[in-house]
Amino acid sequence: MGRVAIVTGGSRGIGAAVSKALQEAGHSVAANYAGNEEAAKAFEAETGIPVFRWDVSDFRSCGEGIQAVEAALGPVEILVNNAGITRDAMFHKMTPEQWGEVVGTNLTGLFNMTRQVWEGMRARRFGRVVNISSINGQKGQAGQANYSAAKAGDIGFTKALAQEGARVGITVNAVCPGYIGTEMVRAIDEKVLAERILPQIPVGRLGEPEEVARCVLFLVSEEAGFVTGSTMTVNGGQYFH
Ligand code: CAA
Repeated sequence: MGRVAIVTGGSRGIGAAVSKALQEAGHSVAANYAGNEEAAKAFEAETGIPVFRWDVSDFRSCGEGIQAVEAALGPVEILVNNAGITRDAMFHKMTPEQWGEVVGTNLTGLFNMTRQVWEGMRARRFGRVVNISSINGQKGQAGQANYSAAKAGDIGFTKALAQEGARVGITVNAVCPGYIGTEMVRAIDEKVLAERILPQIPVGRLGEPEEVARCVLFLVSEEAGFVTGSTMTVNGGQYFH
């Protein structure tokens, strides 16, 4: 059954793979993006998936963006909160801006988006919310106090909301990717990646965005109605939680 889906940060990295997987499964997908217009337009031309620009850290922009998507495609039934940024720094060097930007996008962004589709999902008695957290929200990561805090927050948010959604047909789950071969991970210093990170992954490689997308596809399916409040770990065996 085709449903209407929004994927935030849906034109690049893991989000692009999720958008494509949802489209292939027959859903009407809107891919949100924040700033990289060129990549978004190229993605739209390649896939036919419409892209919509807004900043998930801004509540009002999210409301306007969701309205635009609903006018084009219909009421949102699937929300994948994927948009995320890094501003890595050891804590003794971390600035309030680095803290605020990461928490604003990676944690408050989930409130800003979910709050504004939630009442519609409740009224229609159906919804699927998937929050893309991270291995580093589960285990913590030096150089990422901001990111780890926000991503751990995403898991708490998921568990609380799952309890509220359960009675009204809405499931809320988190997916925790490990190190996936996207631009975000490839931006890590090559030496740090090769010497400190790769040796910690038992499967011996970075993950593929499509490997995360397949998990999301399961969680949003009609058949996954009994799966809610879960944290799905996709990290090549790096950390068990
Ligand atoms: N544990 C403890 N100490 C550590 C450490 C670790 N894992 N990593 C570095 N340090 C120490 C270093 O040994 C060094 O100590 P000394 O000064 O005493 O020698 C000190 O911290 C500074 O380290 P760097 O030289 O690396 O500092 P830097 O300022 O050049 O870089 C950094 C800091 C940008 C955080 C860099 O270490 C880094 O990129 N680390 C990787 C962070 C990471 O894993 N980010 C994930 C991004 S991908 C992502 O987030 C997606 C996802 O969800 C998985």
